Amino acid sequence: MNSTQQLLIKCLADGCFHSGEELGREAGVSRAAVWKHLQQLDALGIDVTRQKGRGYVVVGGLSLLDADRMQSLLTAEAAALLSALDILLQTESTNQYLLDQVASSGAHAQVCFAERQTRGRGRRGRHWVSPFAANIYMSMSWRFTQGVAALEGLSLAIGVAVCDALQAMGFEHLQLKWPNDILLGGRKLAGILIELAGDVSGECYVVVGLGLNVNMPNSMAMQIDQPWTDLASISTGLPDRNRIAAMLLNGLIPLLSRYEQDGFGRYRGAWESRNAYQGQRVNLITPATTVSGVMLGVSGSGGLRLQVDGLEQVYLGGEVSLRIA
Ligand code: BTN
Repeated sequence: MNSTQQLLIKCLADGCFHSGEELGREAGVSRAAVWKHLQQLDALGIDVTRQKGRGYVVVGGLSLLDADRMQSLLTAEAAALLSALDILLQTESTNQYLLDQVASSGAHAQVCFAERQTRGRGRRGRHWVSPFAANIYMSMSWRFTQGVAALEGLSLAIGVAVCDALQAMGFEHLQLKWPNDILLGGRKLAGILIELAGDVSGECYVVVGLGLNVNMPNSMAMQIDQPWTDLASISTGLPDRNRIAAMLLNGLIPLLSRYEQDGFGRYRGAWESRNAYQGQRVNLITPATTVSGVMLGVSGSGGLRLQVDGLEQVYLGGEVSLRIA
């Protein structure tokens, strides 16, 4: 999406008719160029209608993420700790955006949301499907001082905080799948990807990425390689992404600010109470082997506790995936 298209989207987001002339004036291009750019938006899933004599419209408008509205919904604690909130119409990956900021200026307590990711990434090298203005794609950067050992279990704790925030907004029956998938009705609703930069034994930066399906267009279903769901499927109206975003920040920012003191211990019980596979036989698939066992829960550092051939074994994260046997 180029900068002209970004300007055109912002004009059309209000759901009103805009003439080609007016749009051209706003974007500093000719009417013919407006038409060309708007045609290309179709490929992004933005449905622009043209009506003779009236101009262009996105019927129903676009409900875009809005920094002012998000900020107005933050708690005093979250607002005080947050150092920057960037909302992008499009980026490769919000995690990459913040990793770049970390590398150039040591970004602490920065948050980035994007309306669309062109190369959204998931765990284990997967692609995260990120269509325009449909879901939440967010990342947060945080500086820690005690090395990565103090961060054990962080991604699981984030999963707990995301479930708590969504539950407080009325989204019930959320479950967690080790290590950090959020499930609804056995299908994936959200995923977390944590990336690290800096000194693993001292000052390091963590970028926490969250992809939450809010209103995934059906046209995208073919691109998703696992059973998925979204919040719209259990909502009466269209979920308010700005409110969801703010509630997530209200939960995640205090968690990150306290994690070096609290550790995973504070979240372990809550994680287990949402464990999708508690007591069930599962297969743990690693690049080298598959282990079959009964899910006992998680250890004090967030490891997976499995009963294998009558003995308890603990498995840490990495390139692993868990399946119901
Ligand atoms: C998973 O595979 O479960 C993790 C998915 C994480 C996706 C989010 S979307 C926002 C952030 N930016 C990315 O490129 N990935 C994460």
